[in-house]
Amino acid sequence: ATERTLSIIKPDATRRNLTGKINAKFEDAGLRIIAQKRIQLTKAQAGEFYKVHAERPFFDELTTFMASEPVVVQVLEGESAIAKNREVMGATNPAEAEAGTIRAEFAESVGENSVHGSDAPETAKEEISFFFSGLELVG
Ligand code: CMP
Repeated sequence: ATERTLSIIKPDATRRNLTGKINAKFEDAGLRIIAQKRIQLTKAQAGEFYKVHAERPFFDELTTFMASEPVVVQVLEGESAIAKNREVMGATNPAEAEAGTIRAEFAESVGENSVHGSDAPETAKEEISFFFSGLELVG
């Protein structure tokens, strides 16, 4: 079925001017970018977005990093978009990511791993509405 998923191009990637190269990977995989904006998160907003990880030892590092520089938030649409996006991103830890994936090519570490993508339909819905109103999704 056609799905929508929330993607974030993280500060390590925006800093290195990789937005276009990462978007090309999504588009080459058949995902359509139906909404996109470049924003600067506050640490509090990053904490709200990643609240499921609040008790993890890396939470402070994660939220500090996500607020350190601009991010590009986007909605990707396509057939099985959630799984397809996760395939294109590769494993969370770039050392374990398959060749050709975004994280294998661009990520610097498990923390600074260039992209985020929703992991399931319910979280995709929540994460999309965290950043976008319905009017901003133009499929
Ligand atoms: P993401 O898909 O954005 O969801 C949570 C993020 O936490 C994850 O990608 C990683 O970037 C980050 N993360 C996971 N494990 C660690 C870790 N051990 N140290 C720092 N960050 C981590």
